[in-house]
Amino acid sequence: MTGNPQRKYRADYQPPAWLIDDVELDFDIGSAQTHVRATHSVRRNPEGPAAEDWRLDGRDMTLVSVAIDGRRLGESEYTCGDSALVLHGPPEAFTLTVETRIDPEHNLSLEGLYRSGDILCTQCEATGFSRITYFPDRPDVMSRYVTRITADAQAHPVLLSNGDCVETGSAGAGRHYAVFEDPFVKPCYLFALVAGDLGVLRDSHTTPSGRTIDLRLYTEHGNEDQCAHAMASLKQAMVWDEATYGLEYDLDSYAIVAVGSFNMGAMENKSLNVFNTACIFAAPETATDDDFALVRDVVAHEYFHNYTGNRVTCRDWFQLSLKEGLTVHREHQFAIDQGSPGVTRIEQVRAIREVQFPEDAGPRAHPVRPESYVEMNNFYTITVYHKGAELIRMMEAMAGRDAFIAGVRHYLAKHDGQAVTIEDFVVAIEESTGLDLAQFRRWYAQAGTPRVGVQTDYREGALALTLTQSTPATPGQPDKAAFDIPVSVALFDEAGRMVREPEVLRLDTAQAEWCFDGLAGEPTVSALRGFTAPVRLDHAPDDAALARLMAHDSDPVCRWDAAQSLFLKTLVAGVAARSGGEALPEPSERLFEAIAHLLSNPPADRALLAAMLTLPSVARIGEEFDAIDIHAVCAARDHLKQAIATRFLEEFEALRADHAALQAYVFDVEEAGRRRVFRLALDYLAAVDAPGLRECALELSRTADNMTDRMAALEALRDLPGEARDTALAEFAERWADYPLVMDKWLRLQAGTRRADSVEQVTALLDDARFDFTNPNRVRALLGGFARGNPAGFHRADSGGYTLIADQVVRLDALNPQLAAALAGLLTPWRRHAEPEASAMRAALARVGEGVHSDNTREIVEAGLAE
Ligand code: PHE
Ligand code: ZN
Repeated sequence: MTGNPQRKYRADYQPPAWLIDDVELDFDIGSAQTHVRATHSVRRNPEGPAAEDWRLDGRDMTLVSVAIDGRRLGESEYTCGDSALVLHGPPEAFTLTVETRIDPEHNLSLEGLYRSGDILCTQCEATGFSRITYFPDRPDVMSRYVTRITADAQAHPVLLSNGDCVETGSAGAGRHYAVFEDPFVKPCYLFALVAGDLGVLRDSHTTPSGRTIDLRLYTEHGNEDQCAHAMASLKQAMVWDEATYGLEYDLDSYAIVAVGSFNMGAMENKSLNVFNTACIFAAPETATDDDFALVRDVVAHEYFHNYTGNRVTCRDWFQLSLKEGLTVHREHQFAIDQGSPGVTRIEQVRAIREVQFPEDAGPRAHPVRPESYVEMNNFYTITVYHKGAELIRMMEAMAGRDAFIAGVRHYLAKHDGQAVTIEDFVVAIEESTGLDLAQFRRWYAQAGTPRVGVQTDYREGALALTLTQSTPATPGQPDKAAFDIPVSVALFDEAGRMVREPEVLRLDTAQAEWCFDGLAGEPTVSALRGFTAPVRLDHAPDDAALARLMAHDSDPVCRWDAAQSLFLKTLVAGVAARSGGEALPEPSERLFEAIAHLLSNPPADRALLAAMLTLPSVARIGEEFDAIDIHAVCAARDHLKQAIATRFLEEFEALRADHAALQAYVFDVEEAGRRRVFRLALDYLAAVDAPGLRECALELSRTADNMTDRMAALEALRDLPGEARDTALAEFAERWADYPLVMDKWLRLQAGTRRADSVEQVTALLDDARFDFTNPNRVRALLGGFARGNPAGFHRADSGGYTLIADQVVRLDALNPQLAAALAGLLTPWRRHAEPEASAMRAALARVGEGVHSDNTREIVEAGLAE
């Protein structure tokens, strides 16, 4: 590795020296290059530092000219380098004109202006705008934008930018133009431009105050039939935000453009969201229930950003969770209100436990509000997003929902049109709700997952409950102060009746005790109900108590968690035995009894039944160990699955047969729950290669009227011997060859195979015509699908899995550093693994370090190798 990338520190914040009130952009889109003429009205910031020079960010473009008040600057008046244009001693107030040339055709980074298929589009968060023109690329410079686009009328009949279209016309020689005005001030990361030949789905929404909003969803022609669900979701989100937060959309039109090449899920540009097609397309034939839910939630998320993110934005990128934590929380509330609240919450908890906790325990652990970074793109993390959302959720729990919503409204009113900090948000919530969040603020500053211990002492009708907390050291933070942790607790008796209503205990010291008296017998403690705080709970009820909670707890999260704990006991014992070279133990009768009871008394929500019967994932089991013996984890999990499948073969057969009588596909809670149970049954039956399963799954893969069931069939077949598997996969590939997102499922299926030659299969697919290394969705499906979804293959004993990923990261780094860095991150948690995997993984990471050049990937590698 070479060079010395600049690290930025939160503590170094300085306001901008100059402000830009108005931005006028003129894009002249040619067949190869695009010419950008930017005219800014600039004035010195009265609150800014007294700088002589003004630095504008910019990279990967050609400066054509720069002028102040119409006079072209001579060479001594500015310096233009690799990453900046510096104006020497500009006046106090002036008009700046900058002309640049950019090359979208060769921009594979997918930042700035680039081409996705036949669509030209932009991505400016976090710092893509400085690939379009020289500009102070920081969110605290907020301006009003007018954008003029000129392009070939045939190649680019649709021209779009933020705000309202105020003028269109012919530009001669087969070209046309359009002018857009966005009346709201915004930071440049919310700028967007789209030009292409697009199909459109139109609809409208009328707000409670009687305004009619024109809604448009653009895609490449031929995909319009995939967009109805996204459009319906947008309307649902608008109605929800009006009803819940009293927030109405603030412009006359709202457009979404779906593009096939996108680094993330979607982007909330003002009035012109740009989406990954994976977060828009959803038809029963091509998308699963999970895809339908994803589309609904991402569409809502981006819409919610219009207030939490756009109307009030971030002062600097250290404040990212200000908009993302709050918006993910709003998305989570919305998702829970759409039905199946228990299982929706369980999914949210799983993301925290299985992805965020490991991040918080690894070399890249960082506070929700980070202190420093090299490359901002590396900080769009599950910690900033989802742990950030859990912090907001805790505030809501402390304030109560209505008071919390009033607090958010106060925050939005107080800071409308401003770029602010997390501290500003917390202050606004305190002002409005009267809460004292002094200690609570530590959640934003300290990284790491607190461990909360639960000890009980029952004597003569009284239960003494002791809670303790401690938080492990994280990089740069050896000692942690106590957090303010809300722990919801309820008590149940022997018969499973609730004897103490849920109560939120505030643990704000290292240790505290609570007493519950007047009890008729020793109670069972149900703790952290609904997952009231993002902590690890050290609570070890015995098997009988777990079975009781599993059967009777009124909180679905605790019910599910009790089942997980019961499974985990067997699994942890199995891993220990396997690591020690002993035979895998058989599960206890108590476990079988609990499952039998669940199967004969299933919860009304079918999806909850499926969640409760799903074994903890490999990632979750790994969380129980300091040094993960990954192959022992896989073996123990397989063994338990087979034991359960063998014992309950008839029951799973019945659940499978049940499904045959289903109606045509609809995406709703009830039907999706049924399909989830069906998929679970197939999974257990496949674990023992049950008689008739292969034929049934092959048949289903051909005849299912929906992708959810078809995928369930293919997943069941994937690791089984025999011809059915190959036939089903081949037929699938042929039938869906023209649907790239479906082919991603095909890639992912193969990447996740348990067969011994998975590394070779993935390697071969890299050269398959259906794979495309320049498209992030393909890369995520194949390489992400392998490294995340195939622990046995990724950690293969010969290191073939690590080498494969390391080599592809190096290759990708030259094209798309943001994506390369994300993939490299999968090699960083090597310290969590047992030997020999730990050393081999580390060696692969070091190998990445030798081959990559981007700041993005280098930052990840350096963190991963740091002592
Ligand atoms: N801000 C986008 C979101 O909601 C994510 C994103 C970040 C997209 C950076 C592109 C680039 O959540
Ligand atoms: Zn977001």
